[in-house]
Amino acid sequence: MDDIQNLIKKAREASGFSQCRYSGFPVGAALESEHKVYSGCNIESSSYSLTICAERVALAKAISEGETSFKRIVIYAAKADFCPPCGACRQLLYDYAPELQVILTDGKNHQTYNLSDLLPIAFEESKLKK
Ligand code: THU
Repeated sequence: MDDIQNLIKKAREASGFSQCRYSGFPVGAALESEHKVYSGCNIESSSYSLTICAERVALAKAISEGETSFKRIVIYAAKADFCPPCGACRQLLYDYAPELQVILTDGKNHQTYNLSDLLPIAFEESKLKK
């Protein structure tokens, strides 16, 4: 398991690759699976709604390499005290890792949450079957 400071470093490094010319708000994520850490940054589009958050980029990278089990995600944003994941990211992360720990940081301090507390009464696979 990666040390938390190492995960924060990876999320910070990923934020350096952010393509955020419209918002000027770089975000980096480091998603820890059973085997390794997958990083992601936000990628913005001139058609704004096509923007992808750092968290979903990291998740897509990991899943596309066969990962199925996730422990923690660090979300780094230097321009916010703490950058909580948006609703879309909460949902997608919950679909694949309901027990995920979510660590928010500006590089100086960090706060830790359970994803299940950030998305109470979540919509999930079981709701599709009755
Ligand atoms: N953003 C993320 O990448 N992750 C978050 O948790 C919140 C917001 C991005 C989307 C957009 O590129 C920029 O931050 C401003 O909303």
